[in-house]
Amino acid sequence: MEKLNILVTGGAGYIGSHVVHDLCDQNFNVIILDNFSLGQRVNVDERAKLIEGDILVDDDLNTAFENKIDVVFHFAAWKAAGESMVDPSKYAKNNICGTLNLLNKMVENNTNYFIFSSSAAVYGSPQYLPIDENHPVNPENYYGYTKLAIEENLNWFSKLKGIKYAALRYFNATGYDIKGRIKGKERNPANLCPIVMEAAAGIRSKIQVFGDDYSTPDGTCIRDYIHVNDLSTAHLKAMNYIMKNKESLLVNLGTGKGQSVFEMINTAEKAVNRKISYDVVGRRAGDPAELIASSQKALDLLNWKAEYSDIETIFKSMAKVYL
Ligand code: WQD
Repeated sequence: MEKLNILVTGGAGYIGSHVVHDLCDQNFNVIILDNFSLGQRVNVDERAKLIEGDILVDDDLNTAFENKIDVVFHFAAWKAAGESMVDPSKYAKNNICGTLNLLNKMVENNTNYFIFSSSAAVYGSPQYLPIDENHPVNPENYYGYTKLAIEENLNWFSKLKGIKYAALRYFNATGYDIKGRIKGKERNPANLCPIVMEAAAGIRSKIQVFGDDYSTPDGTCIRDYIHVNDLSTAHLKAMNYIMKNKESLLVNLGTGKGQSVFEMINTAEKAVNRKISYDVVGRRAGDPAELIASSQKALDLLNWKAEYSDIETIFKSMAKVYL
């Protein structure tokens, strides 16, 4: 069988760069399309073909699709939920218009398989825990809505044009490559783990804990943190699944276990052997007390479960990049 040609949008970004390394390791022909707004050249696998371009630019998409693309992995999106509430247009343009451009280009070029970075943000505040895929969707930030809007479009493109897709609803993606292949850290992080590591590295003096008065055992919010290498493995399995079964797939990617903010800080201190100072400040708007995935469906359909997502392993993997 000929090698598959796989287009990875955002292949220089945080999750995309990890997945590209795994795809190259498995000998696929990888074509990256990245505009380097957040992506970093140092994280690009040399075995991949790199196109510097944008999903909003038709010529750039045409250049990418000249490579007879079989499968698209789509990571090129904005992902800061807070920012999406003050600048929705930025998110509408890239996350919705850009993705629709990509889908239209797939139809034009008879590309049938699409792997989509969706998010637990599609669920909004949980009505029950753990959150399974049948939980009602009700995004509470515009970012989450953009992901849901694309899931709905994928459903239509699947019905009308035969595109098979995997919508992967990530919980809290974190960590860095266990094998140390990724060297460049995310710029201006807004998420807890990179902020904790910046404090450990002395890049910032302390962290702010957003509220310790939630109805959780220690009062801080609980999240389901999932290592980026585990996410990457799930992407490759999802591609195999939709190609083999010729059917689309919608799954949560999480561990089924939750950690509080205080637990994260304590574990980080031990794992990297540095003091991490913090102040407890007021709650951040839009933070639910607890978010935990049911990962049963991913286990049943993909035989996937997290391997590197214990918190100590997560922080140790980050220490290689930060310290
Ligand atoms: C985790 C916990 C904060 C920073 C976000 C997106 C979501 C999804 C995953 C992509 C929360 C607390 C954080 C800090 C803190 N993204 N915190 N001090 O908000 O659970 O989810 O990433 O799909 O859509 O919203 O992740 O890492 O920002 O926060 O106390 O400086 O850490 O309050 O409880 P979140 P996070």
